[in-house]
Amino acid sequence: MDKFLIRGGVPLEGEVEISGSKNAALPLMAAALLTEEPIHFQTVPNLRDIATMVQLLKCLGAAVQVSGENALEICAAGALTPLAPYDLVRKMRASILVLGPLLARFGEARVSLPGGCAIGSRPVDQHIKGLQALGAKIQVENGYVHARSEGRLRGGHVLFDMATVGGTENLMMAAALADGETLLENVAREPEIVDLAVLLNAMGARVEGAGSDSIRIQGVNTLHGCNHRVMPDRIETGSYLVAAVMTQGDVTCRNTRPELLEAVLVKLEEAGACLKRGGDWVRVTMRQRPQAVSFRTLPYPAFPTDMQAQFMAMNTIANGTGTIAETIFENRFMHVQELNRMGARIAVDGHTAVVQGIERLEAAPVMATDLRASMSLVVAALVANGETMIDRIYHIDRGYERVEFKLRQLGARIERVVR
Ligand code: UD1
Repeated sequence: MDKFLIRGGVPLEGEVEISGSKNAALPLMAAALLTEEPIHFQTVPNLRDIATMVQLLKCLGAAVQVSGENALEICAAGALTPLAPYDLVRKMRASILVLGPLLARFGEARVSLPGGCAIGSRPVDQHIKGLQALGAKIQVENGYVHARSEGRLRGGHVLFDMATVGGTENLMMAAALADGETLLENVAREPEIVDLAVLLNAMGARVEGAGSDSIRIQGVNTLHGCNHRVMPDRIETGSYLVAAVMTQGDVTCRNTRPELLEAVLVKLEEAGACLKRGGDWVRVTMRQRPQAVSFRTLPYPAFPTDMQAQFMAMNTIANGTGTIAETIFENRFMHVQELNRMGARIAVDGHTAVVQGIERLEAAPVMATDLRASMSLVVAALVANGETMIDRIYHIDRGYERVEFKLRQLGARIERVVR
């Protein structure tokens, strides 16, 4: 298993190109199942999760071609096999996103239940409840969700119990081809949902309200092909900004959209960072030790759970004490023990972590437990005294494109140790 060897102590300086968003690309790729015409995607990040989605789409019978650097063409023409097997779904929970499109287009879908993952149980009850409201008959048996509809799905009213990103996306895709109007309420407002609505509308769907808490969709008979550029990754952007702040550096993120990470930028300013932003770039400069910050993770536009671990790492070396409440996932503090192995002083009580900042972390062998947790260990290692070895970095390869290359460009001393 690959590891990262990081020697801390270098302030990051320079420019970094932000990749297309993984969390946007996955539902966008699933949406290509809604039409028999090809969809051309640009700025698709080259990541393990994207490769898993490609594998899943191929296994369903779609043709997927790499048509250039970070460009993909997906064509789901002809008869597909609407079965997403356990072997693929267990690799990536977002595989559940094929459920809505398969059901809407073929009247049937069998998708393995994703099961829990390291950060919590993550049920899909809201996806199922929503599709039932559009007329689907759903049985959960032998570890699979088996959904069927007599003819087309029909428009309906779905009031989600909680704002679920994947649930909202699955229902948007299903409703796009349903007969009649669908109203989705209490939906997630994440920017990736807006990106999906942009794609669906470019395919001929009629989706309104994405980005607000209710989405109205007039179903259409068929959808067609189009071109789509995946939005920039706001979490990758935030991660490089945190790395710059912790190392007291000066980094500009290019090809990004700063307005999509306002809650993160506000907290970096509170930590003492100086930020400048333009339409598609953001620059952070930091010349002192950060001040500790406190926050709660909440659905967009509030502070994202996907940035919690990186900010916790920042608090470990900050001036003062920060309190972090994780309200989205039940078990998303696994990086705490690893950071504490590096000398951090973090105490967890239920869903709250209290981080008492210290002057300097010490290098230690640590282990990545999930995608964002692995980034928190990388940024911690960048400021630690000595050489940190991070094991199980396959987690980071799921969601950060060419991370060691990008960090090295900014001056970091990071090497991939291939075993
Ligand atoms: C997406 C993101 C993930 C991010 C998360 C929250 C992708 C591929 N992943 O995950 O990076 O951390 O949003 O911003 O976009 N829930 C239920 N029942 C359901 C659905 C969700 O109880 O049917 C719960 C989940 O267990 C979780 C919360 O709702 O506690 C939010 O989950 P959701 O928004 O669905 O996250 P994902 O779409 O899985």
